[in-house]
Amino acid sequence: MSVIFECEHLTVGYGKVSVARDVSLALSEREILAVLGPNGAGKTSLILTLAGLLVPMAGTIKLGGTVMKGGTARRLNSEGVVLVPDSRALFTAMSTRENLQIAAKSKGMSVAEVFDTFPSLATRAKIRAGMLSGGEQQMLAVARALVQGPKVLIVDEMSMGLAPIIVEQLMPKLRDVADSTGAAVVLVEQHVQLALEIADQALVLVHGEVALQGPAADIRADPRRLEVAYLGAGADG
Ligand SMILES: Nc1ncnc2c1ncn2[C@@H]1O[C@H](COP(=O)(O)OP(=O)(O)O)[C@@H](O)[C@H]1O
Ligand SMILES: [Mg+2]
Repeated sequence: MSVIFECEHLTVGYGKVSVARDVSLALSEREILAVLGPNGAGKTSLILTLAGLLVPMAGTIKLGGTVMKGGTARRLNSEGVVLVPDSRALFTAMSTRENLQIAAKSKGMSVAEVFDTFPSLATRAKIRAGMLSGGEQQMLAVARALVQGPKVLIVDEMSMGLAPIIVEQLMPKLRDVADSTGAAVVLVEQHVQLALEIADQALVLVHGEVALQGPAADIRADPRRLEVAYLGAGADG
């Protein structure tokens, strides 16, 4: 499998203050990376940089082997890097269908295909997005990314404000999306176990440092390593 999206020695921050340092990652088609870590660790800043919305302080981002200049969000988006922000950013006064139609691109899934993928959204096609439940809104935010035909789908805290049972239903959908569309997925998630179940790789960010990185299956098999990464080396002794 060839790498389609990668970053090398990426340091991100605001002004002169770095909030995530020396992050390297490489994703092939259909691969899911779970970005884990406590609040304030720098996860959102990292993925905003990956999506081109923040200019990196150091390091490179490559899409399909081509180096992307920092802060080129439009270029990255037109080349298939699609962000689902934690705010969801839906047009709340428009219907579910209109939210999808307005975002649709010819290379993406059709609205009908998206409704096949998310049947519960199909039943809500005419409902204003602002009237949907939290879980439905999140589904719509992901669906709106899919109609853009992402090569790289970046999802920030999909589960924010959702009941755990809803998260349990949503998470496997992302696995299906990666498998069926071939998109690489970068997923920031607080539900660590659920994320590790669908992910291929994981990266734990703590205070802006990469505390643990590797195959998701290895990290799942050794929860102690994860605990130590979250709590710091002090938890080991
Ligand atoms: N726009 C900003 N300007 C300055 N600092 C910011 C900004 N956004 C976030 N930060 C800081 O960057 C750090 C990492 O935040 P964030 O990337 O949101 O972490 P996470 O998503 O892991 O909770 C925090 O200390 C936060 O206060
Ligand atoms: Mg965040």
